[in-house]
Amino acid sequence: MPQHKKYKTILADPPWDVQQRGNYGAVHHYDLMSLDKIKALPIKELVEDNAHCWLWVTNGTLRLGFEVLEAWGFTPRSVFTWVKPRYTLGVYLRNATEHMLFGTRGKAPVRFNGQGTWGFFPLQEHSHKPEEQFAIIERVSPGPYLELFARRKQPGWDVWGNEVRHPWLSCAGLTGHQKDNERGRP
Ligand SMILES: C[S@@+](CC[C@H](N)C(=O)[O-])C[C@H]1O[C@@H](n2cnc3c(N)ncnc32)[C@H](O)[C@@H]1O
Repeated sequence: MPQHKKYKTILADPPWDVQQRGNYGAVHHYDLMSLDKIKALPIKELVEDNAHCWLWVTNGTLRLGFEVLEAWGFTPRSVFTWVKPRYTLGVYLRNATEHMLFGTRGKAPVRFNGQGTWGFFPLQEHSHKPEEQFAIIERVSPGPYLELFARRKQPGWDVWGNEVRHPWLSCAGLTGHQKDNERGRP
């Protein structure tokens, strides 16, 4: 097994396949991924023994998010909620929030203990998360930082995702998942 860089903090915004196949679902914007495949990502190989994870979930994937955090070796500790300026769509209720589950593994105290559990930030294009997430995470969590399912390069962060122009491909075990295109599957 080749040596590769290990991270102290991971941010992930997975392409959940729950409630996303309707006329306005995410399936029309990007490839989706099953819960089993998200859980099977080789995160444990990429993080330090003492590490933080921030995992984006929708209201419909809250419970699955906790499962994923635990499958990746993190203990759920708190939730940060993005409050949106207007109602968007939703299969059951109309969503005006998304959440980042915060988990830790090993001995990983927060760097700043004044961070609140919600923020009111503008909407951008489909599924684009608030830029403020990076300032929040960098205040609370130590680097080095890795963003999974990224769409753009953030200064000071390594990124991986099938829409980034120059993903960090030497990320062992992740390259193969980039070719795992599930778009159009029932
Ligand atoms: C919810 S979006 C991420 C949005 C991003 N956080 C932002 O703020 O713009 C999920 C991303 O995962 C990507 N993705 C889907 N399947 C993938 C795969 N098998 N490997 C890598 N990336 C994948 C999608 O193309 C999409 O860019």
